[in-house]
Amino acid sequence: MKVVVTRKLPDSILHQLREEHEVMMWKHENEVMPRDLLLEEVKDADALLTNLTDDINVELYEHAPNLKVVSTMAVGYDNIDIEEARKRGIKVGHTPGVLTDATADLTFALILACGRGLVGAMDVIRKDEWKSWGPFYLTGPEVSGATIGIIGMGRIGEAVAKRAAGFSMNILYHNRSRKKEAEATLGATYVSMEELLQKSDYVVLLAPSTPETNKMIGREQFDQMKKTAIFINTSRGTNVDEEALYDVLSNQQIYAAGLDVFEQEPISANHPLMSLSNVTALPHIGSAAIDTRMKMAQMAADHIVEGLAGRNLSHEVKRKG
Ligand code: DGY
Repeated sequence: MKVVVTRKLPDSILHQLREEHEVMMWKHENEVMPRDLLLEEVKDADALLTNLTDDINVELYEHAPNLKVVSTMAVGYDNIDIEEARKRGIKVGHTPGVLTDATADLTFALILACGRGLVGAMDVIRKDEWKSWGPFYLTGPEVSGATIGIIGMGRIGEAVAKRAAGFSMNILYHNRSRKKEAEATLGATYVSMEELLQKSDYVVLLAPSTPETNKMIGREQFDQMKKTAIFINTSRGTNVDEEALYDVLSNQQIYAAGLDVFEQEPISANHPLMSLSNVTALPHIGSAAIDTRMKMAQMAADHIVEGLAGRNLSHEVKRKG
């Protein structure tokens, strides 16, 4: 059967797929497979190994009458029309679990970078502006002992809470459902969204991207945050109203933001948010640790082997969201 792989992946990952199937792989690792080529190649494809930069929509399904499996090398699947896949009997796999720690690490890196002003401090040296140690020179808010508010207490939220506990932080969270175990083991406290926004020094957004979470953090939510609040987003850019974020950061209505994700990716260097010194921005590297990415790629390849053999996928997307 034919498998289309939309990014170049290591040979070791594709070994079994190649033994059992015909693999057409896009030649670049850091370049999106052109849409017209993808639509051409899926015409006779049975499976697709994709990632968050491909739009897997009705147009693609229409071009791919034989498609049985779509396997994304990501935990998020907001780029995939799940309902349409279900209607067409196409199984969709994703990669939860293996990227939890790497993404929580990166989230915490942003917390520390924003709180302690690491990027600005480095710039001082680069520009040769470091004149002397000073009693309050380049000071920023504490991380240890501060209050963190985690919006979206899934696997990654819990892993962030675990790290926060190590920094003696007061942990608040808001989630669709209560996580009694996390409350007991991590000392996290469930609060309403309003209370979380009002009390947190670090507001960390980890909710999945769904129609319900679209722009869930906007003007109304920023207005409830402390003037000293630091906003971190390692979920999806579409969860935030970026115009409102720009306004509250440029007016210093909140202290800073650490962003790994954006409404439009890649974000341009000319985007208004990039002109602000209180923004720390990263190019969607939450899971970008080598072992993690190898595991994600392997899991995505394995899902195709499973699906084409008529078995259930180990990590099948069961619901929209
Ligand atoms: C995901 O997996 O959804 C991340 O955003 C990329 O690793």
